[in-house]
Amino acid sequence: ASDMGADLEKVLVTADQISQRLAELAAQVDEDYAGKDVLLVGVLKGAALVMSDLVRALHLPAQMDWMAVSSYGSGTKSSGVVRIVKDLDTDVTGRHVLIVEDIIDSGLTLSWLVANLSSRGAASVEILTLLRKPDAAKVDVAVRYTGFDIPDEFVVGYGLDFAEHYRGLRFVGTLAPHVYETPHPTGASSTTEASTTES
Ligand code: PRP
Ligand code: MN
Ligand code: MG
Repeated sequence: ASDMGADLEKVLVTADQISQRLAELAAQVDEDYAGKDVLLVGVLKGAALVMSDLVRALHLPAQMDWMAVSSYGSGTKSSGVVRIVKDLDTDVTGRHVLIVEDIIDSGLTLSWLVANLSSRGAASVEILTLLRKPDAAKVDVAVRYTGFDIPDEFVVGYGLDFAEHYRGLRFVGTLAPHVYETPHPTGASSTTEASTTES
């Protein structure tokens, strides 16, 4: 899953850059959580690849759990109204929670999630994200660990999808505009919700 297809415009973050940066972040997490029991909470589905590489780069004994969330309505990601599709199996009371994400775009998903997990009595709630788009932020989210700040462009790969495609790419790249601007894009079924926000 590493081919640069015709639907992609350019590589933004290479596979080597990703693994190098995740190793650095993992070393910081090891240091910051030394002697603590950390619960990694991945946000499905985008965070699956970050999580699997991060947990192998850590030396800490970390546990993993997953949440799936969804914004209400269609194309209303920016509403900030979030519904839990799959909740944690773990009781986070008193736990040190580290949320693992692929990308912070508007920040609305994460700000809601931090508030939600904090309200359950977690001892701490921090965020690790591979990517962040500072120019797309609608709300400020305090992020403890950021891999790369990237421009506000439509990006796919390493967990990030366009209409569920491209998640398996080993790198992060920008999608060629023709893919989400034409009525019948290659490899995607609908463009009605396409914007600079991942969907
Ligand atoms: C994407 C991404 C983040 C979220 C960021 O997930 O993986 O979870 O959007 O957007 P925000 O900062 O504007 O809230 P998406 O809802 O597309 O689900 P997916 O992970 O299954 O692709
Ligand atoms: Mn996601
Ligand atoms: Mg998505």
